[in-house]
Amino acid sequence: MIFNQRVVQPSAKFAQQANLNKEHHSKLLHSALDNYEKHWAELAQKHIHWKKTFTIPMKWNPPFVEWFVDGELNISEQCLDRHLNGSVANKTALIWEGEPCNGLEPLERKILSYHELHAEVCAFAEGLVRLGVRRGDRVALYMPMIPEAVVAMLACARIGATHTVVFGGFSAESLCDRILDAQAKCVITANGGFRRGKILSLKQAVDKAVAECPCVENVVVVDRLGETGSGNYPKSTTSFSPTQMLTGRDRWYHDVRVAGSSHAAESLPAEHPLFILYTSGTTGKPKGVVHGTAGYALWTNLTCQWVFDIKPDDVYWCTADIGWVTGHSYVVYGPLSTGATVYMYEGAPDFPDFGRFWRCIEREKISIFYTAPTAIRAFMRQGEHWPAKSNLSTLRLLGSVGEPINPEAWEWYHSVIGQSQCPIVDTWWQTETGGVMMSPLPGLTPLKPGSATRPLPGIAVDVVDDAGSPVAKGNRGKLVITKPWPSQLRTVHGDPERYAKTYWSTFAGPAGMQKEPYYFTGDGAFKDHDGDIWVIGRVDDVINVAGHRIGTMEVESALVDHHCVAESAVVGIPDALKGTAVYAFVTLKNEVKQAPDWNDERKHALARELITHVGGIIGSFAKPDHIRFTDSLPKTRSGKIMRRLLRDVATGHESLGDTTTLEDVSVLATLRQSSDDE
Ligand code: WT7
Repeated sequence: MIFNQRVVQPSAKFAQQANLNKEHHSKLLHSALDNYEKHWAELAQKHIHWKKTFTIPMKWNPPFVEWFVDGELNISEQCLDRHLNGSVANKTALIWEGEPCNGLEPLERKILSYHELHAEVCAFAEGLVRLGVRRGDRVALYMPMIPEAVVAMLACARIGATHTVVFGGFSAESLCDRILDAQAKCVITANGGFRRGKILSLKQAVDKAVAECPCVENVVVVDRLGETGSGNYPKSTTSFSPTQMLTGRDRWYHDVRVAGSSHAAESLPAEHPLFILYTSGTTGKPKGVVHGTAGYALWTNLTCQWVFDIKPDDVYWCTADIGWVTGHSYVVYGPLSTGATVYMYEGAPDFPDFGRFWRCIEREKISIFYTAPTAIRAFMRQGEHWPAKSNLSTLRLLGSVGEPINPEAWEWYHSVIGQSQCPIVDTWWQTETGGVMMSPLPGLTPLKPGSATRPLPGIAVDVVDDAGSPVAKGNRGKLVITKPWPSQLRTVHGDPERYAKTYWSTFAGPAGMQKEPYYFTGDGAFKDHDGDIWVIGRVDDVINVAGHRIGTMEVESALVDHHCVAESAVVGIPDALKGTAVYAFVTLKNEVKQAPDWNDERKHALARELITHVGGIIGSFAKPDHIRFTDSLPKTRSGKIMRRLLRDVATGHESLGDTTTLEDVSVLATLRQSSDDE
């Protein structure tokens, strides 16, 4: 990677009208340095709609933190009720467009004002309570991108139930694991969702998962396909089999909601767990990242004001699915808490053609657009003529998230989509951080294509060496956060030791410069000569495939789960479109290789079978791009698989580096001879 090729100076015009001006920005930087607790306490007083105000700003008992400890609030009031007395009440909160059953335009469209969204949330909150869902319970969501998904999240928050949203691309098995880990009492889903002209069979997956989950008492089903005639959607002309509703367990969403209810929001402690979101780590088992309420509410709100510069007239579109943290923080909680108009689209960017997103931007006059580098690269590959067909002049700010953006994609995004008029906020953050930690501030920070530049005011980020000392400018190191922050994860659900070990043991302090433990991000980074930070990518066994975070161990266990596989090792290799592709080395059981029908044809068929198998266990997005059969895997004397070596072999690099710790050097030769089978 070449750093610092180009600097784009901020536009004075943008700076004049930005929510955060130079003076305000430097005041914030100073107040955070001056008195960290007071800094956050003042922001929390000002930007949170408290039901009961707090007196204790923070309790830091490393590695556990609590913020605004004795305060009480409800984030659904922060996002809805507090807007209802003023001009925002009748403003559009949500513009939703769905893929119609024929895939063509016009799209299915629904508009909800703040007033209407509030009414819908109250109706469903009351319905959930009547089903027996209580404060402290867990509710799992497995839904398409439809307004009811937003309503369900806010309704859970309103009654104090902790939601866990599982991305609709996960398999029934992954869904089952998450429901069980969270011990969810209720699952909310839909009888379908449209994507690329096909119906996602979400309810079937829920049935399969819930059969193994005794904790689930109820399944609530949105009638997205219009099969009952009493729901909110027209009947699908794409054929589908009738939904099987299990008596006593399953209910239609439209029967559960209690129209006209004004269900009062629970007054919840600041630290009440708002949601659990499962994310991949370095072991096979995903972690349930737990977020609290007040600190999360504060930071998602502030970042929407500062980074996305959301103003009353904006129409804001974040393309993330609500199944990921970006959807939680920047489709739902952050923008709604600022009273923004949020655009939400159900389908895929490339269906029926690569013009769909740009037509949405023109039609809805989108002014702020936030997406992932992998999508930008896919658009770029299709050519400028697609965006050129639409009028994109309403755009004033662009955002990027999920992985490092390569300078080439940045330039294309800037000139073709932003017509060189829009700042790009390259936002670095993680599921665990709750909100954006590093990003240029629009109108203030000089932009460097490929760099998330600096931490936001109040956020203490650094690049350190293995001893925890900050690296000098011009050097690489590990990315850490040196102080607890309001929207940080509180724990790993049911496993506080794993929380402490994963995030706080690498730089445990006190040592060298370190007085306190540092939060380790798992990312490597470069600090340039101006002190700006360039996130390079993960330094642990996590890979980022098309913006999706995948643990190499998860893919390995899915492969080993197949009856033909003895052992496997998975590495990420650079990929022009996805950023990283999944490359799996597989050793087969002897009986497979010794079978009389074992030939090239069978080998190819097995490779395809393994790919499908991983899709079935984790979800399609985790399918290996390459499978390579090998007789053995290179291991160190202590039995650790040498991934660096495998990466070199996978990318075809001649130099295999230092192999002195290899237990059996001969396996290397075998590896290099074996051919790529898929
Ligand atoms: C990992 C977190 C944050 C929401 C989406 C992903 C990588 C994220 C950037 C960026 C370079 C980035 C990091 C991080 N990442 N944003 N702007 N530049 N890398 O959330 O699934 O928790 O993944 O995504 O490697 O650790 P996530």
